[in-house]
Amino acid sequence: METKQIQILNPHKVKDEELAEAAEILKKGGLVAFPTETVYGLGANGLDEEAAKKIYAAKGRPSDNPLIVHISAPEELESLAAEIPDAAKSLMELYWPGPLTMVFKKKEIVPCGTTGGLDTVAVRMPSDPIARALIRLAGVPVAAPSANRSGRPSPTTAGHVWQDMAGRIEMIIDGGPVGIGVESTIVDVTGPVPVILRPGAVTMEMIKDALGQVEIDPAIVGPVKEGVRPKAPGMKYRHYAPKARMTLVEGEMEQVVRTINRLAREALKGGERVGIICTDETRSCYPAGMIRSIGIRAREETVAHNLYAVLREFDDLEADVIFSESFPGDQIGQAIMNRLTKAAGYHIIKA
Ligand code: TXA
Ligand code: MG
Repeated sequence: METKQIQILNPHKVKDEELAEAAEILKKGGLVAFPTETVYGLGANGLDEEAAKKIYAAKGRPSDNPLIVHISAPEELESLAAEIPDAAKSLMELYWPGPLTMVFKKKEIVPCGTTGGLDTVAVRMPSDPIARALIRLAGVPVAAPSANRSGRPSPTTAGHVWQDMAGRIEMIIDGGPVGIGVESTIVDVTGPVPVILRPGAVTMEMIKDALGQVEIDPAIVGPVKEGVRPKAPGMKYRHYAPKARMTLVEGEMEQVVRTINRLAREALKGGERVGIICTDETRSCYPAGMIRSIGIRAREETVAHNLYAVLREFDDLEADVIFSESFPGDQIGQAIMNRLTKAAGYHIIKA
């Protein structure tokens, strides 16, 4: 299949004509990758089981891993969710449109092919103007996972999507680099207490402030134990995996730098291609290896923004091993550490 790429030069003033062909593809059951404020998504008609199947095929994704359904206005939720609890209403009010996905009991109309066989559906209303306009023009809810091949870091530019999806989907909409860089926060609102299934830019602290109480799914903080089925089925896969073996180094900054330099020296001696993930603040402290800053430590949103691009770059550079600094696990740091620890296969050492 030939993949067409279109470019939206002024995303904030995107015109309906510019997205007409993309919307037509979605209506006809095809696949279109599009920008959202979190990461690029791979969209299909969420009510069309056959279209959903194509997503799984293009990504090489296990079919028990459900898709997030994207809407362009809050009213559209009523057609998908069997029940909209008060907690969800409060969160919608505060954080829709935005990087927040909520899991609801689903209505009949949502096919099991979209929800991986679950009787719940994850719904999100993105704030990205291109995403919103595209969903509105398609006239259907748009099922969209991140637009990467399964197991690769999520795409934060159209170029990343091209790397993974060229020849596999009908169209890629290039709206420039995304804003946030990590996927949406997922909150399950089907039970008495809302549970965070995946941390994101709408932080645990923000949700707690809004609702008074919130729980964290254990799959977020550690590896999923044998036999335990995590609530977000996607959390059990070794997601976001770079090709290199990755080690996260925790501790006091000076010690961390020293430890990473020692590990890097040893690996270099052994003839390995060594990647180091540092921050702008520490960049000059690393004399050897392929050194990449992931952002400004004092502004963690910059770290979230660059995280996947850095992991992809080390894939391209064919790093054998990566040593990475770590981050505090609160606020947006919870999302950053969740992605980094998974990328490292939970291999964390103390400096
Ligand atoms: O920011 C995002 O959410 C991006 C953009 C494109 O919107 N999408 C995204 O989708 O990250 P994906 O498919 O890569 O991740 C969806 C996650 C998976 O871990 C999946 O298991 C979980 O959401 N999920 C989807 N439906 C669910 C449901 N009904 N119950 C629990 N978890 C669900
Ligand atoms: Mg994904």
